[in-house]
Amino acid sequence: MCGIVAYVGKRQAQEVVIKGLKRLEYRGYDSAGIALLNEGLSVYKKKGKVTDLEQHLKGKALNSHIGMGHTRWATHGEPNDVNAHPHYSASGKFAIIHNGIIENYSSLKQELLNKGHKFLSDTDTEVFIHFIEDIKEHEQCPLDEAVRLALTRVVGAYAIVIMSLEDPDLLVAARKGSPLVIGVGKDEFFLASDATPIVEYTNEVVYLNDQEIAVINDGKLSIKNTANLPLTPYIQTVDLELEAIEKGGFEHFMLKEIFEQPRSISDCMRGRLDAQKGRLVLGGLREYLAKLTNADRILIVACGTSWHAGLVAEYFFEEFCRIPVEVEYASEFRYRNPVIREGDVVIAISQSGETADTLAAIELAKSKGAIIFGVCNVVGSSIARATHAGAYTHAGPEIGVASTKAFTAQLTVLNMIALIVAQKKGTITEQKLHELLVEMETIPAKVERALKLNDQIESIAAEFKDARNFIYLGRGYNFPVALEGALKLKEISYIHAEGYPAAEMKHGPIALIDEEMPVVFIATNDSSYEKVVSNIQEVRARKGRVIAIVTEGDKLIPKMAEFVIEVPSVHEALMPMVSVVPLQLLSYHIAVMRGCNVDQPRNLAKSVTVE
Ligand code: F6R
Repeated sequence: MCGIVAYVGKRQAQEVVIKGLKRLEYRGYDSAGIALLNEGLSVYKKKGKVTDLEQHLKGKALNSHIGMGHTRWATHGEPNDVNAHPHYSASGKFAIIHNGIIENYSSLKQELLNKGHKFLSDTDTEVFIHFIEDIKEHEQCPLDEAVRLALTRVVGAYAIVIMSLEDPDLLVAARKGSPLVIGVGKDEFFLASDATPIVEYTNEVVYLNDQEIAVINDGKLSIKNTANLPLTPYIQTVDLELEAIEKGGFEHFMLKEIFEQPRSISDCMRGRLDAQKGRLVLGGLREYLAKLTNADRILIVACGTSWHAGLVAEYFFEEFCRIPVEVEYASEFRYRNPVIREGDVVIAISQSGETADTLAAIELAKSKGAIIFGVCNVVGSSIARATHAGAYTHAGPEIGVASTKAFTAQLTVLNMIALIVAQKKGTITEQKLHELLVEMETIPAKVERALKLNDQIESIAAEFKDARNFIYLGRGYNFPVALEGALKLKEISYIHAEGYPAAEMKHGPIALIDEEMPVVFIATNDSSYEKVVSNIQEVRARKGRVIAIVTEGDKLIPKMAEFVIEVPSVHEALMPMVSVVPLQLLSYHIAVMRGCNVDQPRNLAKSVTVE
């Protein structure tokens, strides 16, 4: 949440920063601001999108070789011009941008109020920079030392960058719990919440670690930790193409990402799965594979869509590996003193690799001695680095706030992990394994076919765009898909939607059904097909409007459903990768028809780096 970007070098800082903020806008978009050094240390900020800030900057003389900017997702204080970042210190000599949250800010604020400080905003960030300046004055030390001392007293999560009026070539940055990447160019440096604002200029990056402080001064980068130990910057090459972070002719990133799924699923399997050769390997798993194979229990921790992927994996692991699985909301797990025993293995799933609750759940499980596997999309992310082992999903950057291609890539990786374990444990026959591997390889083509239903789904969307509620029902492997379908709809179209196991409907939700209620059944031809057919009848008997996702060639359900969407046939354990696609498209089209901002839905942010 919140995106930060900074630049120092020979270019016009304003251009680099504004462009970078646009790339990071998926992280927060309620207000934006920029600081530049020209006449003085100038801060410009505006409620709204980065384009509103751009308008606000028009006609101003903004020549500066150093600058930093912020796009905000509000935590403390409502979204308005004043609460937008950057924030000045008391003297106005320093400015800060901050992604994260300072938990003990009210006690620090009180301390500073007692000393006569005055605050303009309601933010924790303004307190942070006042506090740093206060230490600097008191200790008569350089800025980076004041930052270091301040960090030893601050509780919370942060990625910060500070600029100084006194030092026109200085940027001081630090991180704990929120990501920060440093791009190293020729005589220039870039800082950003992720690599997307940087790759246009350089692919040499340094990922700052927790408790590290970076100082860029006079064209040199140095890093130390909060214990004041100097560290050698570890420069890595980031593999990210510019076209992957642009819309490429699609109206929205979400649509582009939905349509990318045949490729992202293939990319995810490439070099790892080859049914013909009987090859199934995940290099990142090797070292700890025995732990996973011998696990007494698997705990899956995740949030949102990633949690739904975990629920599908629960069915898959239990069926093929015969290991009990529990799927936990990371935000609950971390605070309820969970029982973690020797023999338990944790799998953490996260697209961004930065979700604060998932990260905290990992740290908790680690502190209790558990081995943690990560399934992340963003290479080098905090979760990827905090886990003992894992596998990347290789779905490419997901920029639309609603997760789509990350979900199907997570399922691909989780299925591969489960099949490797099942093979090792001997809980799957070679024949069954081969059959599933062959089927896995057909998924990209089947998703491609499901995408051909786009026009049909658009016309169904037109029928239901004004609905006020939706129910999604599925059983077995398709139950988590129902949850995912409902989440997609509510988050981008603001229509209330509930996902339920179809059989559970009778225990309450059936009371909601009347002639106005759209009920989406994921009713593909699997082991619970007949039961789902009965559930459809029950909804029809109460005049609910049934939209059914069925397997191609289904003869029965078209007779009872108002709308039928036919997806290609696939083994039921793999069906979620296909059956979710029409639901993604349905929510997309409904949201577009309702005039919603599909890529940046209200109140949401792509990486939830605060708890
Ligand atoms: C829904 C969505 C969120 C995320 C959740 C976890 O479309 O995007 O529910 O799935 O915030 O995020 P990651 O996977 O980055 O940990």
